[in-house]
Amino acid sequence: MSEAIGASDRTARRQKRIARPLRLCQKERPTTNFQTMRRALELIMSWRSASEPNGISSSAAYSDAETRDCQVNVYNFKKLQSRPPSKFQTIRFDPNNDCNLRCVYCHNHRSNEVIDTEEFRAFIHRKVVSTSEFQVGCIMEPTLDSRLADLLLMVADSPAKPQTVFSLQTNGILLHRHDYSKMKDAGLDQLQVSLDTADPGMQRSLRSGMSLQKVLRNIEGFHRACPEIAIVLVATVTSENVGNAEDLIPLGLEVGARRFVFREVFYHPENNVVDHARMPGLLLKPGDFSAMREKILERFAGSDATFEFADENFLDKSAQKMLKDSGRA
Ligand SMILES: C[S@@+](CC[C@H](N)C(=O)[O-])C[C@H]1O[C@@H](n2cnc3c(N)ncnc32)[C@H](O)[C@@H]1O
Ligand code: SF4
Repeated sequence: MSEAIGASDRTARRQKRIARPLRLCQKERPTTNFQTMRRALELIMSWRSASEPNGISSSAAYSDAETRDCQVNVYNFKKLQSRPPSKFQTIRFDPNNDCNLRCVYCHNHRSNEVIDTEEFRAFIHRKVVSTSEFQVGCIMEPTLDSRLADLLLMVADSPAKPQTVFSLQTNGILLHRHDYSKMKDAGLDQLQVSLDTADPGMQRSLRSGMSLQKVLRNIEGFHRACPEIAIVLVATVTSENVGNAEDLIPLGLEVGARRFVFREVFYHPENNVVDHARMPGLLLKPGDFSAMREKILERFAGSDATFEFADENFLDKSAQKMLKDSGRA
């Protein structure tokens, strides 16, 4: 797989460091058990950034002992607290369970519950032996939690300080409310921002009225304050934005992003959160995703950008392990 071409040495080194096999949070087969379905959908929504650039890769590279990819959120925290200390491959942490948006394709349930600060501190000191990666923001929106930057510092000062990638995933709207210098001090490596299109009207329609300009302003401000933290844009690809997905790349490059992740939208009709009026029409037709991928790779060959593509088949394949690893199966 190719690396970023023409990127600065520093960026290239960083991207090399994060170029690892991809395993997305996994999807469970549809079932009639509503609770299980709900948990599975929350798992699918999460995303992992570290992967081979410009391709869809598999999880086969890791042995079972190394592949524990675990969510930590209000649904499984109690259960995880009772487990013995473990080594993790990846921890995906949601300190809160709420969001300021209602994206049309988001299947995740929300509540006011949060993970208690001191219980979290005890967990990362007593139950985590080590982890390769640590992602904050996986099933909900971490910038709604005013403790965010302090929690990052708390992770940095514990055995959960990741050995390879420390990332924050967000919709970006409330990012400016947080202390960037603490994020830098915590050793954050990546800011992953979910943006689907360069078209402000389409962005509003897919992501609950969000302002594209506001998010871009926040990304720029963050990049100015923390140029050493890599910016990654994560796009959910639907029938509406598949035709213009490539336009996101020049826009992202302008605000400092060098890495772009495209995820094919998924839909579970049994879910009771997602917008059923629009979802069937948002699914891609066979071949749409790979055509988009080829177009992007051809147009941006030789640019500073690196890419990652996760189609529905890939998401389908990964389901069972993530549920099992997170103690949520
Ligand atoms: C659930 S969000 C949580 C983090 C944060 N709130 C955000 O939006 O970045 C994680 C990612 O899942 C994506 N996502 C949500 N629903 C999806 C779906 N039905 N298909 C594919 N990706 C989806 C979002 O666009 C986002 O990139
Ligand atoms: S920003 Fe959108 S995708 Fe992320 S948790 Fe909120 S509603 Fe779901």
